[in-house]
Amino acid sequence: MFFGLFGASEEVVGVDIGTRSIKLVQLKQVKDRYHLVNLGIGQLPPEAIVDHAIMDSAAVAECVRNLVESQFIKTKNVATSVSGHAVIVRNIFMAAMTEEEVEASIEWEAEQYIPFEISDVNLDFQILGPDPRDPAQIKVLLVAAKKDFIEEYLSVFHECGLTPIVMDIDCFAIENAFQANYDQEEDVVALVDIGASSMNINILQDGRTVFTRDIQAGGNMFNDEIQKRIGLNSEEAERAKLGARLDDVQPGMVEEIVADSMAHLVQEVQRSLDFFTATSSDSKVERVYLSGGVAKTPGLIEVLGNKLGIPVEIMNPLRNVVIDSGRFDMEYVDSVLPFLAVGAGLAMRRLGDK
Ligand SMILES: Nc1ncnc2c1ncn2[C@@H]1O[C@H](COP(=O)(O)OP(=O)(O)OP(=O)(O)O)[C@@H](O)[C@H]1O
Ligand SMILES: [Mg+2]
Repeated sequence: MFFGLFGASEEVVGVDIGTRSIKLVQLKQVKDRYHLVNLGIGQLPPEAIVDHAIMDSAAVAECVRNLVESQFIKTKNVATSVSGHAVIVRNIFMAAMTEEEVEASIEWEAEQYIPFEISDVNLDFQILGPDPRDPAQIKVLLVAAKKDFIEEYLSVFHECGLTPIVMDIDCFAIENAFQANYDQEEDVVALVDIGASSMNINILQDGRTVFTRDIQAGGNMFNDEIQKRIGLNSEEAERAKLGARLDDVQPGMVEEIVADSMAHLVQEVQRSLDFFTATSSDSKVERVYLSGGVAKTPGLIEVLGNKLGIPVEIMNPLRNVVIDSGRFDMEYVDSVLPFLAVGAGLAMRRLGDK
């Protein structure tokens, strides 16, 4: 967990505020199994969040409030996360030292990696172990997020009478969901979440993050292309993309644009994986786990698999979670699984995790 906030309780509800929709997941731990308690997805108005920045906090708060009320959520404690360019995740190398020593020098060290004033960011770190190339050094995962950016997210919850106790980073929440549900069999796997505005790539080697990247391309890119090339408004473009037949739109046009956008996204994934291969001595990604709404694009799994030449599958963030089929519509749950990677990872957070 990053940026542990105040409070101490067993119960949290995971709330993933995405650009397009807010996902709420609540789990209960019974012995060593998680059980699904609540699940909700609320759509946001198109301009409420732009590039991960909250533009209309009242609309975002209303969406959170509606979800909490419609699901009869009792707990006030929330685990949430952020991503985007106000968040920086980097591997850095430091002279071998203890955790306390890293703590004491991280601010000074971080200055050279962070394009913001150090006083403007929240910093956290995790020691990943010795540097494989130089035993006199350690590899440290550095995480920084702009305080004012985080504050915008926190204030949404405060406005709803909720208490955010965990502030995570999207890619670590996804990693958490993956680890709770899968035994990583290959040495190196990539978790790729493609949402409305961005794509998060997190490469895990032997269960640890070795590479992360945030790319500003996602489902909105499909819509922008459809709008531009066919002349629809954003809502029509979204509907057309999801398969609605609109008058005046030539059959095949939308499919063609979707295929082009998909090729672009696939190329971005490939570029990142190639970059990773080129910069890590002998490691290569062996499997991709996809999440995010865009993972539902028909054909994406196949196109990505063919391009990369490795298996690609959709990650099921509730794979090991017990779901009572008497309480939940299983068909609905199955249909929204790709959306829930971040939310499920957050719902599994407990104060004090690291
Ligand atoms: N069946 C589908 N086929 C193709 N795309 C889909 C489908 N369902 C949803 N999407 C797209 O997935 C995107 C939303 O996914 P998701 O909810 O994961 O994004 P988000 O978390 O709100 O955004 P971000 O993570 O970028 O902030 C939208 O662009 C939406 O059009
Ligand atoms: Mg998202």
